[in-house]
This record gives sequence, structure tokens and C-alpha cells, in this order.
Amino acid sequence: MARIFITSRFYDDEAQRLRNAGHTVRIRDRSEPILPKELIDEAAEADALICLLSDRIDADVLRAASRLRIVANAAVGYENVDVAAAAERGIVVTNTPDVLTEATADLAFALLLAAARNIVCADRCVRAGDFPAWGLLQPLLGMDVTGKTLGIVGMGRIGRAVARRGGAGFGMRVLYHNRHPSSDADALQATWRPFETLLSESDFVSVHVPLTDATHHLFDREAFERMKPGAVFVNVSRGAVVDEAALADALSQGRIAAAGLDVFEEEPRVHPDLLAMTDRVVLTPHLGSATTAVRRAMSRLCVDNLLAVLGGDAPLTPVSRR
Ligand code: DGY
Repeated sequence: MARIFITSRFYDDEAQRLRNAGHTVRIRDRSEPILPKELIDEAAEADALICLLSDRIDADVLRAASRLRIVANAAVGYENVDVAAAAERGIVVTNTPDVLTEATADLAFALLLAAARNIVCADRCVRAGDFPAWGLLQPLLGMDVTGKTLGIVGMGRIGRAVARRGGAGFGMRVLYHNRHPSSDADALQATWRPFETLLSESDFVSVHVPLTDATHHLFDREAFERMKPGAVFVNVSRGAVVDEAALADALSQGRIAAAGLDVFEEEPRVHPDLLAMTDRVVLTPHLGSATTAVRRAMSRLCVDNLLAVLGGDAPLTPVSRR
């Protein structure tokens, strides 16, 4: 039977499903990221891995892992896994799509609303005893969301779920950019635009692309300069899709009004200029999929993938090479 290594704390009942199938399960019962040397040593002994997006499953790890048959990444994104090197060694890589779509879209919308309506800043004022007198021209006036234009960059599952919230929920005009227009998006009454046009027409820009060579720093100085003056920028995808220094400059120069960010270029580090902008930047620590039900579902899907592959069946959610 197989030896399974899980790189961080895990649900007991899901680990038990693996044991019930006769496998040996070793859980690294720690929440801080595993160090490369420990990961290589553990992978060398394992037939199957369950890992996190903070674990780098690179060519060194895969070279050492002579018995490894499957890497189940507990995330929908999988830029932390060298998928080509895994494929060369016949190792299956799986991810956790679908189960986290709605929760991640909820968080994108929460950040959008929080940034537009000064929610975090207002909370801080009230707690500090600074309750502004109600007045037509009072402080903390925000931006309308209903009826505005929402530009979605990356119209995959999560992008479409955000489009539904914006279009059906808030009566927004929804634009999107993908490499190609898609019929799924048309069904949501979202309209395709070239990237630059989407930036110049949107009041809110929400990013939902995977991190690849093509999307690294997709949002650079030029992109922020193209955005509509006073727009709000939201990112729940991957930090490195954004040049954070360029974003901080666009905000401090007042080119764009506000940002809601869940992901960062070098997590857990956040660009100091973004940290310093306490009024117009809302920050969350990579919480897109962080609901109790979703984290359970992600764990369950990892286990389902392991049981399938170790049992000689096809994986449920294999990743594709990009
Ligand atoms: C993912 O699954 O890729 C998310 O970033 C996790 O929250």
C-alpha cells in the first residue's frame, strides 16, 4: 500500500479515509511552510503528496521522488508545481477547481465593496471614537457600485462567478478580457474587450487569471496608466500578476482611487507603500478559498484524487500543462 505525505495540518476524517484504504499517512502537523530540504527528504519516501500552494514542488523535489505517483495540490492555481517535470516522470498533478469558485468570487466582491465604500477605514474611525457628523458633504463618501462598469480580466470559473454577482446582483455593465471571447461569457451578457479597452472603460477591474509567464506583471505601469481615472482595482488571483510598486505609484498619484488585494507578489511580504496606504487600500491575507466548508471540500477532493490514482483509476481533476 502507498505512503502518503501531507505537508501541513489536515482534516482527521479525510486522513482516515486514506488509512481505511490501507495507506500509510504522515502529516506534518505544522502551519508554517515546509523547508525545501525537508520537502525533498519527505518526497523521496512518498508515493503520493498532498501539498499547498506555498510548497514549491520543483524539479529538485521531483527528481528525488523516485516512487511518487501523484501530487495533489490543495489549490486551484498550481504555478508552485513544475507540471512539465512531473509529466516527464509520469507523475499526475491534480488541483481543486470548482469547490472554491463561489467563495473566491464572494471575497472579490467583498473587497470591491469594501474599497468602494471605505468599509475598513470607516470601521477604524468608529472604533477610534471618530464618528463623523452626518452631513451631505461628510467624510467617508464612497463610490457607487450599482450600474457601474465591471471589467473582468480572466473569464474562467471565478471570473464568471464575479460577473454573475456584478451583472445580476448589482446591475453592472460587465466587460471581460480573455485571450478569446467565450460563449459562457456571452450567456452572462458580458462583453469581450481588448485588454487596453477594458482598462480604459471599467470603473472596477477585477483580476482572475492564473500566474504564468504571460500574465506575470500583466498589470504594470502602462496598464495602470490606461485605467479609467478614479477606478478601483481588485486582485484575488496571484500577486505576481501585478507589479506592486507600479500599483502603489498609481494609487499615490491618485490615478486610481482604491484597491482591494488578497494576494501579493512575495507572500507573506506586502509592499510597504501599500501597507502605508491605510485609507484606500484594503488588504486580506490570501483568503479567497478560506471558508470552513470550502477548505473541507478542497481536502476531500485531494483525497478523492489520491484514492483514484493509487487505486489505478484516472484522477478526478488533473491539471493541464500551460
Ligand atoms: C487557489 O486555490 O489557487 C487559491 O488561491 C487558494 O485560496
